[in-house]
Amino acid sequence: MKKVSVINFKGGVGKTTLSLHLAAHLAKDHRVLLIDVDHQSSLSIVVLGATLWEARVKEQKTINRVFESFCNRKIPMPGKEIIVKNPIFERHKRRSYYENRYPKLDFVSAQFELDDTEIDLASTSYGNPLLSEWQKRTLLSEWLDSIDASNTYDYVIFDCPPATKIVSQNTLVASDSFVIPVIPDDLSSRGVTHFRGLVQLKIDEKLAYLKKTANVGTCQSPVDRFPMIRVKG
Ligand SMILES: Nc1ncnc2c1ncn2[C@@H]1O[C@H](COP(=O)(O)OP(=O)(O)O)[C@@H](O)[C@H]1O
Ligand SMILES: [Mg+2]
Repeated sequence: MKKVSVINFKGGVGKTTLSLHLAAHLAKDHRVLLIDVDHQSSLSIVVLGATLWEARVKEQKTINRVFESFCNRKIPMPGKEIIVKNPIFERHKRRSYYENRYPKLDFVSAQFELDDTEIDLASTSYGNPLLSEWQKRTLLSEWLDSIDASNTYDYVIFDCPPATKIVSQNTLVASDSFVIPVIPDDLSSRGVTHFRGLVQLKIDEKLAYLKKTANVGTCQSPVDRFPMIRVKG
């Protein structure tokens, strides 16, 4: 299974558009899980349509639950119930003529409250502070492990928010690689160099430090979710 973050600290550069098209293209031949981790939920509303998305939010079956499980210990880590199977068909199935074109594409929706949860995540800590900082950045990896994603999907695509905070850091920890969409002008191109440096020098180094100093390898959970290939690259 390959996991890819579509990420940039800028908004309006095509992250959501690229995530959807990349996932849809891959889903022609592969099993793909597309995950919206942007609280703005644009991808969720486009993929599910407003009615289905609102129903998922009402039932709390969104990616927010994965992050909430850390901030509120009364909320357990969710299982596969937050995945919408075959969402494009699900959305259009009442139209009898609608062709089931993406049966291998599954989806996890976001919700606006993910932004609130991110604020709670930053201020929540349990026991060993370094381990806590590590755990709050490996929630997505933990969830993917818990649903046995590596045996269920060939690709996981994350549509990230325009930020590099804890939710985005979760996708980077979980990913083998990341794609930075960019508008091909001078200012945006300069931003890419800066963003790559930020990920490699600040985020990766911080995560490597946390993993080492929190003795993650000797703890029961999380075990080892650090994407060494990307970190070296
Ligand atoms: N390759 C492209 N060429 C032209 N317009 C694009 C392209 N990709 C995205 N857009 C448009 O740019 C706007 C922002 O795209 P979006 O994917 O929402 O960006 P982001 O997720 O980075 O905020 C949208 O109106 C979208 O339709
Ligand atoms: Mg977007």
